[in-house]
Amino acid sequence: MADRLRRGTALAVKEILRIGHPLLRGTADSVTEFNTAALDQLVADMLDTMRYANGAGLAAPQLGVPKRVVIFGCDDNPRYPDAPSVPLTVLINPQIVISDPAPCYAWEGCLSVPGMRGLVPRPRAIRYRARDAAGHPIEAVAEGFHARVVLHECDHLDGMLYPRRVEDLRCFGYEQEMLDLID
Ligand code: NI
Repeated sequence: MADRLRRGTALAVKEILRIGHPLLRGTADSVTEFNTAALDQLVADMLDTMRYANGAGLAAPQLGVPKRVVIFGCDDNPRYPDAPSVPLTVLINPQIVISDPAPCYAWEGCLSVPGMRGLVPRPRAIRYRARDAAGHPIEAVAEGFHARVVLHECDHLDGMLYPRRVEDLRCFGYEQEMLDLID
């Protein structure tokens, strides 16, 4: 953020919709036009908003835009201090294939569910395909925390928020009240 302020450009931090909002419950539409000013602006807004909120990821529906666009990335994140670093990535129209379904459990949070955490099982490893903002194909594999972030963000594109994936609601609540449970 400091870099942007020094350059004198405005940060495009947008309001993040919260759980319950109708735009977080719907299915987002595929992007059909790439390399457009509107798509570049959406991605820029998402990046600024995610960084400002210290998020590890963000999906376009969280800004009220029902498009299949997600971003994620994690490096020295104060909300996830023990998380391994994940390269900053923009995925458009992502498609996921689960390559290892063995469930891994970890505590998740979401900028649309502020202050809360839940213990969520996710497949251990995935492959994914997508496009970047210019329309170039992307293909990658991910496991562990990286896979979890991709799966969490892509869930948003189908109206799924992580609390619905919590198996035991005793492991869902305000982070500050569950410090004895959360590693
Ligand atoms: Ni989320």
